[in-house]
Amino acid sequence: MTIKVTWHGHATFSLDFDGTKVVVDPFFSVNNPSALRSADEVAADYILQTHGHADHIVDTVPLAKRTGAQVIGNFEICNWINAQGHDNTWAMNTGGGYDFPFGRVKMTPALHSSGLPDGSYGGDPGGYLVTTASNTIYIAGDTALFTDMSLIGAAGIDLAIIPTGDNFTMGPDDALSALGYLQPKVVIPCHFGTWPPISQDMNAWAERVIANSEVKPVVLSVEGSFSL
Ligand code: NI
Ligand code: MN
Repeated sequence: MTIKVTWHGHATFSLDFDGTKVVVDPFFSVNNPSALRSADEVAADYILQTHGHADHIVDTVPLAKRTGAQVIGNFEICNWINAQGHDNTWAMNTGGGYDFPFGRVKMTPALHSSGLPDGSYGGDPGGYLVTTASNTIYIAGDTALFTDMSLIGAAGIDLAIIPTGDNFTMGPDDALSALGYLQPKVVIPCHFGTWPPISQDMNAWAERVIANSEVKPVVLSVEGSFSL
């Protein structure tokens, strides 16, 4: 199976699993200042929702309603999506996994918060470990560094997508430490550059990754993609 990963800016990605389109944390133009595409231009069969913050969920309901995509998220977020008039959700919770047609999805812990845009309780934040017959992808979600990343890394990660912007999540130093626990083959950084508080020189960070680890850094441009 070929998996194509496309970055839409901030923490929004499209993962194409041999034609099955999975969108992570929909945050598109004009809401997302770094995005080049609107939610109207993106295909989705599934939406993976890491937590309830607006910079991850503001375009979820419009995208889900237009495409009919199934939204995968924690129990509280799925209830909230249902209340917005979209019934096709799949609720999970931290530590649980489920076999979807495109691969096994396991919800991993994240050290963050998860309030929804209207102030509703959004449950616990999370990340996802997606395992196919050929690859394992870790999507950290918004998180601080935590040593239990070593338990996630024990699965053998081909690609890790991790936040590096600082202020709201891990910054460049902690993201570098995270690679020591996760031991992925490839890392794609995200959640940087969208606004001044999370402005970072990711090419400089990539040089540090090369100098300090065996991990291959892939710094995507917006709408750039990487295949594995
Ligand atoms: Ni957040
Ligand atoms: Mn965020």
